[in-house]
Amino acid sequence: MDELVSLCKRRGFVFQSGEVYGGLQGVYDYGPLGVELKNNLKHSWWSAMIFERDDIEGLDAAILSKKEVFKYSGHEDTFSDPLVDCKDCKSRWREDLIVDGKCPGCGSHDLTSPRPFNLMFKTPVGPVENEENFAYLRPETAQHIFTSFKNVQDSTSRQIPFGIAQIGKAFRNEINPRNFIFRLREFEQMELEYFVKPGEDEAALDYWCAERLGWWEKQGVNPSSLEIYNVPNEELAHYSKKTIDIMYRFPHGLEELEGIANRTDFDLGSHTKNQDALSLTSKTMENDESTMRLAVQDLEAKKWYVPFVIEPSAGVDRGVLAILNEAFTVEAIGDGKERTVLKLKPHLSPIKAAVIPLKKNNDELVRLAKEIKQNLQALGLGRVFFENTGNIGKAYRRHDEVGTPMCITVDFDSLENQTVTIRDRDSMEQKIVSISELPEAYIGALK
Ligand code: GAP
Repeated sequence: MDELVSLCKRRGFVFQSGEVYGGLQGVYDYGPLGVELKNNLKHSWWSAMIFERDDIEGLDAAILSKKEVFKYSGHEDTFSDPLVDCKDCKSRWREDLIVDGKCPGCGSHDLTSPRPFNLMFKTPVGPVENEENFAYLRPETAQHIFTSFKNVQDSTSRQIPFGIAQIGKAFRNEINPRNFIFRLREFEQMELEYFVKPGEDEAALDYWCAERLGWWEKQGVNPSSLEIYNVPNEELAHYSKKTIDIMYRFPHGLEELEGIANRTDFDLGSHTKNQDALSLTSKTMENDESTMRLAVQDLEAKKWYVPFVIEPSAGVDRGVLAILNEAFTVEAIGDGKERTVLKLKPHLSPIKAAVIPLKKNNDELVRLAKEIKQNLQALGLGRVFFENTGNIGKAYRRHDEVGTPMCITVDFDSLENQTVTIRDRDSMEQKIVSISELPEAYIGALK
């Protein structure tokens, strides 16, 4: 983990947020390369969910949430971790971090009994601050998919089965955020809510489990680094009938990367508290309860029902950590030397190609290298980097370390013969290609 954290800082992937003020615990900033990697990962998920299928719609719902949403979802009552206080050093711990009844901070045995600590962040809304006037920062993106269910269905005329996918920030006031970007207070999720008929939920859970394992493999995660964990009943979230976790061997241990839950009709049902809504006759809604009927019509049976939902929910930050960990390689390159190389899948690489003039002060080389960069950039496959340091060896090492699949060197032969040298990140092989064939070679290398 230490090597990875150091590489992330040195090369501009991830920084502690607010570091100049000592940092805010559990909050990180993604740097120039981190933002590209993260966006590429999110794009790959979005593409697999929305573009490559015909049964899923996208959504980008609000982060601020009306408090009723998390009241009726059950989060106000149940979204908590057991908290233990140390009476000696005044530190606070999640109960599972207490070993042999000792405070992990000072070793004292003088601890309080565990009490539930709700993980949701609240923020005042509007100029008047009081107990009632607040919104929640969503602790999962899912709830606004449920509350927008009817709007999406009505505007797209979707029939069951279909899904709604969303990527976005979630916030949890974790008692002990830790392990770099693994357990955060501000993080991102990629969540799909896939709605099915009751009775078709169990097969759908198995289907999505296989789909998601296949997707992680395509992102470069070796299947041997993954394990399936059938969450036992006593550990299930309040909304779940069955959950399968995809566990990954993180540098600090085997932990959850993604959860795939059978949420049954719990959420849509909870937001349609008044069960008369199902008969579509009653208009009475009590107090602040939802007035939306989150039910669908079974046209054959001519009755209304609340769909069941299967939810694959993946953490973006945990995904970035897993992918960096898989790609991070230190290998011998002869003469007792080593190189560090990030063997990222090209579609995830923050920089797709680096164009390097042999000499940084040669106007003709620089002009041609810039022209090549612009032409490759115009293909729209990601960031192409103009690297004008004048030191080819150092440039190769730097681009190995950040996972750039190819380096393109522009030298004096380029001026005379219209050729460049391409160097492959993984094999380190170099070959000469004509500039006119470069776009084809570039596109091929990114596949
Ligand atoms: N909507 C379901 C849900 O939120 P979850 O298991 O609590 O379920 C889903 O979270 C995923 O979100 C986890 O598998 C993990 O990847 C990510 N996640 C949850 N809490 C996190 C945290 N504090 N920091 C970073 N990622 C987190």
